[in-house]
Amino acid sequence: MIMHRLTLPVAAAFGLVSAVAFAANTLKVGAVFGLSGAQSTYGEESINGMEMALDDLKAKDPALASRITVVKEDEKSNPIDAALAVKKVLNVDKVDLVFGSVASSNTLAMGSAVIEAGKVQVTPASTNPEVTKKGDAVFRTCFIDPFQGSVLADFAVHRLNKKKAAILLDHKSDYSKGLAEAFTVALKAAGGEVVANESYEAGKKDFKTQLTKIRAKHPEVLLVPGYYQEVGLIMKQAQQMGFKVTLLGGDGWDSPTLYELAGADAAKGNYFSTHFAPDDKDPRVQKFVKDYTARFHKAPGAMSASSYDGILVVADAFKRAGSNDPAALKKALSATKDFVGVAGTLSINAQRDAVKPAVILKTEGNKAVFEAKIEPGQANKSH
Ligand code: PHE
Repeated sequence: MIMHRLTLPVAAAFGLVSAVAFAANTLKVGAVFGLSGAQSTYGEESINGMEMALDDLKAKDPALASRITVVKEDEKSNPIDAALAVKKVLNVDKVDLVFGSVASSNTLAMGSAVIEAGKVQVTPASTNPEVTKKGDAVFRTCFIDPFQGSVLADFAVHRLNKKKAAILLDHKSDYSKGLAEAFTVALKAAGGEVVANESYEAGKKDFKTQLTKIRAKHPEVLLVPGYYQEVGLIMKQAQQMGFKVTLLGGDGWDSPTLYELAGADAAKGNYFSTHFAPDDKDPRVQKFVKDYTARFHKAPGAMSASSYDGILVVADAFKRAGSNDPAALKKALSATKDFVGVAGTLSINAQRDAVKPAVILKTEGNKAVFEAKIEPGQANKSH
């Protein structure tokens, strides 16, 4: 390229100095997701969404896209391997920024290493409030569980007219416990009550003991704030027991595997809150769904969308920062405002969390369909 042969003063005369300085800066991203293990559909969708976003960026802003490189690492769907995976990308690959992960417990296990290394972390999907409290190097481009919990409680009370709830949570998951707590607080505030609280551990296959205890308390809704592997079985077993109750959950339900595990009959008429509705009529969403389906031969899920948006937020901040310097990146990420994504428009607040809408989907046998959209600050007005 001609630019290489120019001396800096000559380049300055041509107004090329800032371009040259910027060109010296690349952003190396360590994408750490669960590519194997219990939450592997989360990892697969996240990587797909990220790669599609970077290809779209190549078409729109090739100069920027060419300065971003990615290394992928598997956190194997558990916190212990997540802590190892993040150290690998930081110490061996020397990444500037860690992108990931999905399950809050795994993302929480990564934060300290990022902070120690003086780098930056952005999670596109971890919703537990503690995630960004780790330190000012940790950001997220999704909403948090206090919002998600109040969206669900409000929906139960005002939309479904059901005030008596039970909760069946995963007591080893930070996400599950946090979402249950947020739901409980919001339900009480909306005039409802929690009549039963039971728990399980991820990996368990039989939930009939807990479901029997819950049924004895006659709840109208059952919140299962867990991940799809267990939720699918819980749905199926509730149905096998003849226990008729509307199940409610959060974004952890968002996987096609849920319907396979539950079976079409059991997976009907339940509701969950999440980040993105594939049947949203918005042309931007429809284009994303069409392109993604053509490329990967399956429909995008919540993580596909949140990771697509998340990496573009990172790219946008990198562009504005003009450098991979952690302080500049943090400043630019903090200044993210009204970023228009496929999972809604988001701004990053002072707590480094994204302020953005949630959607509620209704399960219909083998898929989920759009039921409601709740804007931030509107969590008590979903009726
Ligand atoms: N919000 C979940 C957590 O924090 C992860 C998740 C995000 C799961 C999106 C499914 C879809 O653990």
